[in-house]
Amino acid sequence: MELLKQKILLEGTVLNEKVLKVDSFLNHQLDPVLTMQIGAEFARRFEDCTVDKILTIESSGIAVALATAVKLNVPLVFARKKRSLLMSEEAYTTEVYSYTKQETNHITVLKKFLPAGEKVLIIDDFLASGAAASGLAVLARQAGCEITGIGIVIEKSFQGGAAKLRQAGYRVESLVRIGSLKDGKVTFL
Ligand code: G4P
Ligand code: NA
Ligand code: NA
Repeated sequence: MELLKQKILLEGTVLNEKVLKVDSFLNHQLDPVLTMQIGAEFARRFEDCTVDKILTIESSGIAVALATAVKLNVPLVFARKKRSLLMSEEAYTTEVYSYTKQETNHITVLKKFLPAGEKVLIIDDFLASGAAASGLAVLARQAGCEITGIGIVIEKSFQGGAAKLRQAGYRVESLVRIGSLKDGKVTFL
């Protein structure tokens, strides 16, 4: 997605060889026009598929997932990162380790929002090692849902998550793919 590449080159900051900061339009402040364009692009890429529901994870996945859900005219559910005692009985849950934050979260979705047999499209902002996307896929499989595909705004291909998910048979559609963040520079694939 050319527009997104330009935005990354213009406003992104390479923090180190592994981390790209894009808080001016994706992770803190949001660019509403670009967000809606991202949603339209995901909808276009998955237009040949049946999608009953979008599944994402709080917090940064929600905006781009909402834009996609509006375009596809389907509901959106976001996994929560903090397990609530009230939720435990009626929820699907799995562990996701974030190496960025060096902590393990139990991600949770209430069972009533993931009925068996639904075709689920997973959407997230970043794909690094793939822990978050894999965790969402685990929840969807626990629920007996079918995973239509995985839509990612920024894939950091050099961290291996995308290859791992594609190897596992998932259709991964990434709007931009970054091959390297070496020398303070973003190199797209
Ligand atoms: P993984 O899920 O692919 O394994 O990656 P990781 O554990 O590193 O992801 C942890 C968090 O860091 C996620 O956000 C992810 O979106 C974010 N992240 C990963 N790489 C980058 C990067 O290069 N730049 C930025 N800005 N974020 C990155 P999160 O902890 O779930 O937080 P939230 O923003 O969704 O609330
Ligand atoms: Na994030
Ligand atoms: Na995210």
